[in-house]
Amino acid sequence: MREDSCDAVNRVDQQRLWQRHMEMARIGAIPNNGVNRAALSREDIAARRLLLAWARQRNFTVCVDGIGNLFLRRAGSDPNAAPVMTGSHMDSQPRGGRFDGIYGVLAGFEALEAMDEAGVRTRRPIEVVAWTNEEGGRFQPCTMGSMVFTGARPLADVLDVTDNDGITLRDALAETLAATPEATKREFKMPAAGYIEAHIEQGPLLENAGKTIGVVTGIQGLRWFNIEVFGKTDHAGTTPLALRKDALRDAIAIIDALRDLAHDPADATRFTVGRMLVTPNSPNSVASHVLFSVDLRHPDPKRIRGLGEAVGPLARKAAKFCDVKVTPSLHDDPCAFDANVIAAIEDAAKNLALPHLRLPSGASHDAMYMARVCPTGMIFVPCEKGISHNEAENAKPADLAAGARVLTAALIELANR
Ligand code: GLV
Ligand code: MN
Ligand code: MN
Repeated sequence: MREDSCDAVNRVDQQRLWQRHMEMARIGAIPNNGVNRAALSREDIAARRLLLAWARQRNFTVCVDGIGNLFLRRAGSDPNAAPVMTGSHMDSQPRGGRFDGIYGVLAGFEALEAMDEAGVRTRRPIEVVAWTNEEGGRFQPCTMGSMVFTGARPLADVLDVTDNDGITLRDALAETLAATPEATKREFKMPAAGYIEAHIEQGPLLENAGKTIGVVTGIQGLRWFNIEVFGKTDHAGTTPLALRKDALRDAIAIIDALRDLAHDPADATRFTVGRMLVTPNSPNSVASHVLFSVDLRHPDPKRIRGLGEAVGPLARKAAKFCDVKVTPSLHDDPCAFDANVIAAIEDAAKNLALPHLRLPSGASHDAMYMARVCPTGMIFVPCEKGISHNEAENAKPADLAAGARVLTAALIELANR
């Protein structure tokens, strides 16, 4: 390992990194150690303010783009060189944990602090990015910040999306942007020389194998849909079944049909309906309208395409009484990470004598979009029993620090190329 990398890696401070996680976890804290920090909420703003306060202490330059992605830059020696980027997200699931996303931001920040303290000079600048709305729990779809940053979709496409209370992303974003006036405005599609995202694994493979570092090879494909069923509300006690247009009854039939479509004895196909809005949502009124989400995942591009194409026709066929509208909201083909970035991460783990394993990611990440525009990779660390998107999500301070050390070494390597 390079001498400057050794110095910086030795400055990674497990205690400081853990304290920062616990400080962030207080923002949006819910019972049982959980976190509810929805994208572009008051809590998201508080997390941004805290991160900026830490950045100010280090004199890192702070920028923000039009969708609220925050960038903290540590300068390199070549002012014209494109930065190497690292980071993840600060928003959480409604009943999320203390590590999903925030770990990648704090591990990146720890890496920059460690470099600062070791007096490391890199040729390229290194930037920590906190992507806006990775989770998609409040505003759909997920991975929105990186999607817009990389130009995969224009900002205008998502501004009118509403949350469950009818608040538009446009309004929530304006409030969030106003809360960080010190950040310099920056354009989308800024060139990057590379991107490494650190994250908890959110699955059990590392823990079961007794490994500390996951060297991530890629991310499986993902498709999201909103399905709306249009019925008619009626009295639950008086309306004969034959006269009803019961939107919820048809929604259940559609979900059953889709579950059959996704049936896979190998358990490689993942099918989830996690969100449903029922109108008027009253026990003694027949449902007039149902909106529900469909999340489909598979590592094979052909299979995920085939499944996605079947959703619309199957949903319309399964509905017996009502009209159906199927709106695709996300189509991510599986992605493979860059061989050189994978090698840099693997070398760092080897040099630090950390037990490691190559593995694919079942969860989606902003790295999926960054992989379209620059050499990209990810580092996983174990989380307890693989539990995630749950208040019980947990990780060991030593594993978080180990991931931050690997990240530090790999970033220094890429930033000097
Ligand atoms: C990210 O949270 C995902 O849905 O995979
Ligand atoms: Mn995440
Ligand atoms: Mn998540």
